[in-house]
Amino acid sequence: MKIMVVGGGGREHAIIKKLKENKDVTAIYALPGNGGIKMDAECVDIAATDIEKIVRFAVNTKIDYAVVAPDDPLVLGAVDALNAKGIACFGPTADAAIIEGSKVFSKNLMKKYSIPTAKYEVFSDVNSALEYLKTAPIPTVIKADGLALGKGVIIANTLKEAEEAVRSMMLDKAFGKSGDNIVIEEFLTGPEVSVLAFTDGKTVVPMVSSMDHKRAGDNDTGLNTGGMGTIAPNPYYTKEIADICMDTIFIPTINAMNKEGRTFKGCLYFGLMLTPNGPKVIEYNCRFGDPETQVVLPLLESDLLTVMQAVTNGTLSECEVEFADKNACCVVMASDGYPKKYEKGKKIDIPLDLLDSVYVAGAKEQDGQLFTNGGRVLGVVGVCDTLKGAIDAAYSKVEKISFENAFYRSDIGAKALKALEEQ
Ligand code: AMP
Ligand code: GLY
Repeated sequence: MKIMVVGGGGREHAIIKKLKENKDVTAIYALPGNGGIKMDAECVDIAATDIEKIVRFAVNTKIDYAVVAPDDPLVLGAVDALNAKGIACFGPTADAAIIEGSKVFSKNLMKKYSIPTAKYEVFSDVNSALEYLKTAPIPTVIKADGLALGKGVIIANTLKEAEEAVRSMMLDKAFGKSGDNIVIEEFLTGPEVSVLAFTDGKTVVPMVSSMDHKRAGDNDTGLNTGGMGTIAPNPYYTKEIADICMDTIFIPTINAMNKEGRTFKGCLYFGLMLTPNGPKVIEYNCRFGDPETQVVLPLLESDLLTVMQAVTNGTLSECEVEFADKNACCVVMASDGYPKKYEKGKKIDIPLDLLDSVYVAGAKEQDGQLFTNGGRVLGVVGVCDTLKGAIDAAYSKVEKISFENAFYRSDIGAKALKALEEQ
């Protein structure tokens, strides 16, 4: 079987490594992939958002199955375009990907179907938004409606910050058209949990839970990033909470999408906050999370391609999806300065025996040597029976890997360990 994976980050590298375990897979193409993914797949220089070229490549290469991993091509309709040419895909069609593509859509969906989430108001006019802020509780949360590279959420701790956020989104167009409409919502508190779930629109199978670390600095300080590390499972996500989420959030969301005529097939990502009033949805993503995937897929014992095909074929209820009773930790090694300005082109040294534990997010290959080519460069993963063991394994590998100006958080998993000790 010839497989095509659209995307080129650490998440895609983790997906590709897992897909390779299937004996029927004869070739994997990554569009565009990256210098590190080259070790595991053939990289093709086509941007993940160039739907026309992606479809042409898939048809010409006679691709048997396609996985569309990032949000933009999904929202742009990559799966619809591939399906139209008869190519089976993993990932939602555009009408279902809107669950991530528009926050106004997802908030209205949750309100309509009584799915627990933060209270909110939607604004398309700057003056009404500014007027509303005068009476809104502080802190308050301002969200751009559309995709914004994970940066469209601002937690305002003062009225002035909130007003600035509204003006920058709606007047200065900091996120382009994504800020034409905004959501202003209630600030929630509590531990955060990421739950990725396979769904074929009928059955929903949550994967092992995880915890992201979004801020750049230790102890959750510094700027928001795409994610500096993850652990799985998330100790806050007990069996009792998982049952509540299944009944009040996961199944109602799948049903709601069906009722709207927007059946979701693929990986639905639930960003949850465990508030004093129960679990609530902070956000939906229409895809695997990054770097959640880098800790979830190493724990998957079932064959990923088989599960993905069951999602596509609508036979997920008959498919076995098993996870190892182990823990995983992923530490992201980034370029100093990320998420702001950083340098590229630094030589990366990875001992050969560690390559299996490394997912490459941003690197170029030249004459067999890897060089940094992004803010987030590598995700380094440890797996062990205990969380402490997984964290120690990840960090001991990180210490053996080097590139100039490398930086990483030293506390990935520390909060989770503390929570485990308190249980
Ligand atoms: P997002 O880009 O949607 O993942 O949001 C980024 C982060 O902002 C989340 O991971 C939360 O930590 C935080 N956040 C988003 N919405 C809220 C909210 N209503 N209350 C508190 N924190 C929030
Ligand atoms: N790690 C969060 C995301 O993938 O959006």
